Amino acid sequence: MEISTKMQAYQFKSYQGPAAFATVATPQPAADELLVAVMAVGLNPVDYKIQAGKMKPLMKAKLPLTMGNEFAGTVVAVGKQVTGIAVGDRVYGRPDHQHAGTLAEYLTVPATQVAKIPEKLSFTEAAALPLTGLTSYQVLHDVANLQPQERVLIQAGAGGIGVLAIQMAKRMGAFVATTASAENADFLRQLGADQVIDYRKTDFSQVLHDYDLVFDTLGGRALQDSFQILRPGGQVISISGVPTAALAESQQLGILKELMFAAASYPLQRRARAKQTKYQFLLMHPSGSQLKIISDWVTHDELHPVIAKVFPWEETGAAYDQLKAGHVRGKLIVQVQK
Ligand SMILES: NC(=O)c1ccc[n+]([C@@H]2O[C@H](COP(=O)([O-])OP(=O)(O)OC[C@H]3O[C@@H](n4cnc5c(N)ncnc54)[C@H](OP(=O)(O)O)[C@@H]3O)[C@@H](O)[C@H]2O)c1
Repeated sequence: MEISTKMQAYQFKSYQGPAAFATVATPQPAADELLVAVMAVGLNPVDYKIQAGKMKPLMKAKLPLTMGNEFAGTVVAVGKQVTGIAVGDRVYGRPDHQHAGTLAEYLTVPATQVAKIPEKLSFTEAAALPLTGLTSYQVLHDVANLQPQERVLIQAGAGGIGVLAIQMAKRMGAFVATTASAENADFLRQLGADQVIDYRKTDFSQVLHDYDLVFDTLGGRALQDSFQILRPGGQVISISGVPTAALAESQQLGILKELMFAAASYPLQRRARAKQTKYQFLLMHPSGSQLKIISDWVTHDELHPVIAKVFPWEETGAAYDQLKAGHVRGKLIVQVQK
């Protein structure tokens, strides 16, 4: 297959500046990498948070930066050291920050960061899974070690994270409460939620108690109130709130950031200790092997992507406008190529 040396990518040149299509060089795969023709990309809030410069304390980026943090596509070339994946394979993944920028006609990605797409999924369906699927798995499995019969509150059940986290927590045998607006309640019960709280009418911290885990996707006041519903020994794991010193250490961000994050998360740590509970912050990481587990669950009908809308490539900007409005059910997908 003839691959053009130039391609289209959706980029921004300065933080808080606009994003637009640009013609850039098609990347070349290193020995451990794949070159993938991108077919579909799932959009995530982190994309526009990076563009706004809000992720600078956690990740370095070189400008101009291509947007997008997950993809589904077809392998068109493989590096010399790659085994187990061949040209023509359908793969999906969430690349690391050095390989960020999935909203492009082609991308390079380490082979260890992808998995083959389950046969039953289209590219647009597959693109709805990597970032939110891995985040949900890493919170519920790796950090929380969620057990059957445990009780978990998953905040914002109708969001990109929520729709997968609810299904995974049910698969792990937990009792699942979630928050959503009233129009999403029936849909979330069908996904498996045992209790749906209309956050516009009811304060979750007044109606839930003795919970083992809060999966916080909201931050702010909801995060502060989370400790009230935990049993002693319970935990809050946030992906949206205040990063901790432990996160700075694990990401090797340096002693200054460790001290900054320790100070910023101190009020939450104090609340956690007062209730004999624990507060942690998770920053998700790419993993081809965990994506294979997610593929298995999809293959066995235990996990289903939820897509609100598929946008054509030319309407990427409109897709981000809808995401930023904040009430998407599941995921928005951009179809890059057909
Ligand atoms: N740390 C990490 O590694 C990591 C990884 C992934 C995501 N995140 C972060 O996690 C957050 C959630 O991500 P996402 O992809 O799920 O976002 P999303 O898809 O944009 O979330 C949209 C959903 O939020 C719901 N919602 C809005 N306000 C709510 C409220 N007050 N209470 C309950 N639900 C509410 C809406 O439901 P209704 O329409 O019913 O209101 C909507 O369905 C984002 O801040 C994202 O950046 C962090």
